[in-house]
Amino acid sequence: MLPEQHDILWTFLTIMCSIFALYVFTNVIQVCRGRENVNTTKWGVVFGVFLLVVFSMTVHVMGLVQRDQMFFFFFRQLPVVLLLLLVWGYFFKSEDIESQSEPLIRAGYFFACVSILLAGYTNWLPQQRSDPPPVGGIELSGELTMEEFTEMGRVIVFGAKQVAGQKAIGKGQCPLCHTFDPGDNIGRCPNLFGVEERSHSRIKEDRYINDPIKIGETDSTGIVKGKAEEVPEEYRRSGPYAFSGEDYLRESLMCPSCYVVEGYGKAGDKVSPMPVIHKPPISLSPLELNAVLAWLQAKDTPGDFAKVSIPLPSPEDTAKKEEESSGEEEDRPVFVTGNEPIEEIINTLGCPLCHKIPGIPGAVGELGPALYEKVNSPKRLKDPNYKGKAKTAHEYTKESILNPSAYVVFNEEAGEPFPDGVMPQDFGQKLSVQALDKLVDFIANTEPEG
Ligand code: HEC
Ligand code: HEC
Repeated sequence: MLPEQHDILWTFLTIMCSIFALYVFTNVIQVCRGRENVNTTKWGVVFGVFLLVVFSMTVHVMGLVQRDQMFFFFFRQLPVVLLLLLVWGYFFKSEDIESQSEPLIRAGYFFACVSILLAGYTNWLPQQRSDPPPVGGIELSGELTMEEFTEMGRVIVFGAKQVAGQKAIGKGQCPLCHTFDPGDNIGRCPNLFGVEERSHSRIKEDRYINDPIKIGETDSTGIVKGKAEEVPEEYRRSGPYAFSGEDYLRESLMCPSCYVVEGYGKAGDKVSPMPVIHKPPISLSPLELNAVLAWLQAKDTPGDFAKVSIPLPSPEDTAKKEEESSGEEEDRPVFVTGNEPIEEIINTLGCPLCHKIPGIPGAVGELGPALYEKVNSPKRLKDPNYKGKAKTAHEYTKESILNPSAYVVFNEEAGEPFPDGVMPQDFGQKLSVQALDKLVDFIANTEPEG
């Protein structure tokens, strides 16, 4: 697979620039060789230097992420190539070389060839690279098929683009906590493999009926447990029905504390650490929530949609969604450059879903320790069990973000360590150097409020 974070177009163009510089270099050497009166060493060095510069720029561009690639190509490499063209022209003029065709014509010819090659190349590409699907993963035009609807759900969960080295993650943020393949467990959140099947048996458990609250009682989300008709109308599916597996799944997402999977909750499994999916920060719309539910029901039986009980959205609903979504943004892979305000950096990365963070509104996550690093970091460094490499509080915070397993924090409230492996290990790939500095500066100075 081609690494998706490098745009294929800029990679291709930058390689062509290097080939072009090589071509110019050999051309100049050839011309010099054939003539007595021309200073081969001088021109060799000049064009050799160009070749080296252009080549090292190509190497640089290939290591950049997409957005920076384009910028670097246009504002750094392209000017150098234009300068090379100019000097090439000057070379012919100053040495009075007549037998050569005009450099500009040659260059034009060269780039025409490149364009043709490029056209052929991009034609061949689609088999290699799946282009990002349009908004929401699919063209929302009138009537959907169930396959398209569940695909829309999959994109909300995993995102439209997978980036090499990063866990696939979409607007729903589910993979931040959950796994989906059999046997793949990370600790504090249930593996969602087989959840469709479980949904039917859960609602018959005595625990579902009476714990942590009874059917008919209301959790802080305002949803009445076990009463499908009490779900806000726009999220409900139409038609009369008894409480079903589908409703269990819906309730899991809209009222996580209505039923807490045993062993995964706080306060003796009375409170769920899972965020309410239709409220901030995740805020899925009714249509999106239904798409995720349909995907949850279908995902364990690929190609078979018989288990899906969520009805397809009406064409009006899909049309509305199309109007609403400016799309694009949410389909991009997660990456922060460091120019964003700190709050946006933290929200984009999803830290608030697991951590309480002073100074960040809505950061009330419960899966990890409250981030009071001004106080915590020095404590951790003094712990005889600390085996990491950090020497200062600042370094400790950085290490915790880039390599969470270097030291696993002990949860004093629960009397056991926090689960290792729950905090994502790939934040290094989602942050530029500048963004990491900004994040560490902020987090290292957090302390209990008031
Ligand atoms: C911050 C971590 C976190 C995120 C993000 C998260 N969940 Fe959860 N989820 C949990 C935890 C913890 C539980 C177990 C406690 C409970 O039952 O609420 C859970 C439980 C569930 C259950 C019930 C599982 C069962 O076996 O009955 C479902 C279904 C579920 N999540 C779906 C989702 C979906 C879909 C998303 C994304 C839209 C999501 N979750 C996002 C942490 C999370
Ligand atoms: C899916 C949940 C999850 C997410 C998302 C998450 N963390 Fe964590 N984090 C944890 C858990 C669990 C621990 C404790 C276990 C450990 O030390 O590895 C932890 C530990 C930490 C620590 C060490 C705390 C201490 O007091 O020693 C820091 C610092 C930290 N996280 C920062 C962050 C930042 C910054 C982000 C966002 C870029 C983030 N975390 C995202 C779950 C998460």
